Amino acid sequence: MRSKIVAGNWKMNTTFQEAEDLLYEIADLLNEQGKGDADVIICPPSPYLEMASDIGVENDFFVGAQNANDHESGAFTGEISAAMISSMGITHVILGHSERRTYYGENDAIIKNKIDLALKHELVPIYCCGEVLAEREKSNHFEVVRRQVSEALFHLDKEAFSKIIIAYEPVWAIGTGVTATPDQAQEMHAFIRGLIATKYGDETAADTTILYGGSCNAKNAAELFSQADVDGGLIGGASLKAADFVTIVNSFK
Ligand code: PGA
Repeated sequence: MRSKIVAGNWKMNTTFQEAEDLLYEIADLLNEQGKGDADVIICPPSPYLEMASDIGVENDFFVGAQNANDHESGAFTGEISAAMISSMGITHVILGHSERRTYYGENDAIIKNKIDLALKHELVPIYCCGEVLAEREKSNHFEVVRRQVSEALFHLDKEAFSKIIIAYEPVWAIGTGVTATPDQAQEMHAFIRGLIATKYGDETAADTTILYGGSCNAKNAAELFSQADVDGGLIGGASLKAADFVTIVNSFK
């Protein structure tokens, strides 16, 4: 179902105490300021998922993991499976983030397995795609995103695909302070929706939630979210500041 969503990706930040304080600060601000008809998903580091989920249940936000392994279970020291995440009552998982692709060698074949396991364990995948700067400069960005979306997702049947949230995150915009312009975001989101329409039909395309990520902040969120095909954001740096994050949550018209 297409929804307005603001998701916070905390990455590898916060101690346990800092995480708990930040979650309560966000919860208090959400309770004070409301969140319109947006859904809020907070993705803290995995050791804090259960604590975050308890606070989320009380305060009407979802909690997601930042990653899950591409195997069901077994001898993968240090890894966390979709089944584990799901068994803690967690609802969402970010998959295919560019930092995972770049630093941990994840390709679309690996991410495809992760998507399947997430769905098997009833987690909603937030699937990240996006080009690096050199690809955009060579005008290859549409082709790169087409490949990422089709290779990791288009094996799914229509019903399974309808559970996916897509996040378009141009790599050159992540953590750089350089945001895609609203026009650039809209252009790519419309392109992704078009790909989905070709594969699954107009109705499924119109029902898919497509988030923008990459230096989205309290100042630029409203303009980005006002674009026809931008359904919200996946927020990194600005999700670590409670006031900024809740401002972003309330940036839908
Ligand atoms: P950023 O990160 O908002 O800090 O650019 C976004 C992301 O990586 O999801």
